[in-house]
Amino acid sequence: MADEQTQSENGGGVATSSNTLSITDNRTGEQYEIEVQEGDVIKAMDLRQIKVHEDDFGMMSYDPAFTNTASTKSAITFINGEAGVLEHRGYPIEQLCEQSTYLEVAYLLVNGELPTKDQLDKWTHDITIHTFVHENVKEFLQGFRHDAHPMGMLQSTVGALSTFYPDSKDIQDENERYWATIRLIAKMPTLAAFAYRHSLGLPYNYPVNDLSYPANFLSMMFKMTELRYEADPRLERALDVLWILHADHEQNCSTNAVRAVGSSQVDPYSAASAGIAALYGPLHGGANEAVLRMLDRIGSEDNIKDFLQGVKDGKEKLMGFGHRVYKNYDPRARIIKKHVEEVFEVTGKNPKLELATELEKHALDDEYFTDRKLYPNVDFYSGLIYEALSLPTEMFTVMFAIPRTSGWAAQWLEMVNDKEQKIARPRQVYVGERERDYVPIDKR
Ligand code: CMC
Repeated sequence: MADEQTQSENGGGVATSSNTLSITDNRTGEQYEIEVQEGDVIKAMDLRQIKVHEDDFGMMSYDPAFTNTASTKSAITFINGEAGVLEHRGYPIEQLCEQSTYLEVAYLLVNGELPTKDQLDKWTHDITIHTFVHENVKEFLQGFRHDAHPMGMLQSTVGALSTFYPDSKDIQDENERYWATIRLIAKMPTLAAFAYRHSLGLPYNYPVNDLSYPANFLSMMFKMTELRYEADPRLERALDVLWILHADHEQNCSTNAVRAVGSSQVDPYSAASAGIAALYGPLHGGANEAVLRMLDRIGSEDNIKDFLQGVKDGKEKLMGFGHRVYKNYDPRARIIKKHVEEVFEVTGKNPKLELATELEKHALDDEYFTDRKLYPNVDFYSGLIYEALSLPTEMFTVMFAIPRTSGWAAQWLEMVNDKEQKIARPRQVYVGERERDYVPIDKR
């Protein structure tokens, strides 16, 4: 599912007497005044007073897929989908990608402010010394088949972390929350790299603590017999930028899953594991993998027209295009596109890039896509970088899960501290049968 929800830029203000909606229920002629809250929203519970009879349940709103429902107030990520704006804690994504690092952005998301040098040193140190996983984790990775999907392995190993850190269940304890956040961010690359090495039948590489966060990941992935794996600094930086781009995206499908599962007050590892499950789907993080499979199927530029006709006939989707929020362009796609070229300078050109560029041109020239405001999203290009890094397609969504972990952690922490949040439990509109008498099996 796409990253969802566009915030209003108006921000609203303190409700005044004119800051209300007047609703007339034409069924009864009754009038209601409903307060307009900050952010141009009304409280759904304010609708409950609207009833035909005194003993009615009251009015609800119906919103499958939450396309127009704010599930939380949040101060982490701002998106204006029409204008293509993405900010974390108020800082534009373009500036963060230009000047920051993934670990600093993770600090910003979690803590709300950019760190001082001392704060960043401590944060980096705490993460770096928690990159190892318990040796038993290797044992149960061994239990997976050689062709197990790494997202499945990641989901289960992250969930299993809760059994190694049972104190994390005490989510009211600030100290426990801090260390769970650190451990999640620290161990995710290790678990991801171990899953990759397992699929190749290669020995696991342990973390190297004097490498940067992305360089350490590349070392755990690719080190063979050399004593030390030195990643090309351009690839290290490209990966860091990709991870900044994927760190958070407000109430997207996986973040919503983390918040919904976390609202039951389960430990954060279990909640993060639910986030990984949601991210796995082809409409969400799985789209980068689907883009590459689609390019493989198209094969050559000669087949683009037929392929796009199939999309327009509703036979399939153009993966990597479209977004729930961004309706003009995805600012992340624009930044990534620049880095694709840089990566190819190191790795050599990939013919799939030519095909992707040609496909993009055709689609942007076609009314079907422009009328529906379908533009390339972040996943259209990220897969090309991952492929240039020689990652197997199955690893692409894992590469998204690693950085999204800081966003999940920040959103989970915000939820735990939010007095208005309760266990997430939507309502339904029941449309099935009622009050039937049981029929014995021989009478059906
Ligand atoms: N290819 C062809 N048609 C599309 C596509 C697409 N990729 N996306 C939307 N449409 C059509 C859709 O069929 C509908 O047409 P019509 O009005 O004739 O029924 C119209 O465009 C509106 O689409 P929608 O389904 O209402 O849009 P949505 O906001 O519910 O879905 C989306 C957003 C991202 C799930 C969807 O665009 C999609 O499936 N894209 C492909 C998957 C993808 O690239 N996902 C990655 C999203 S970005 C990263 C992330 O969130 O993880």
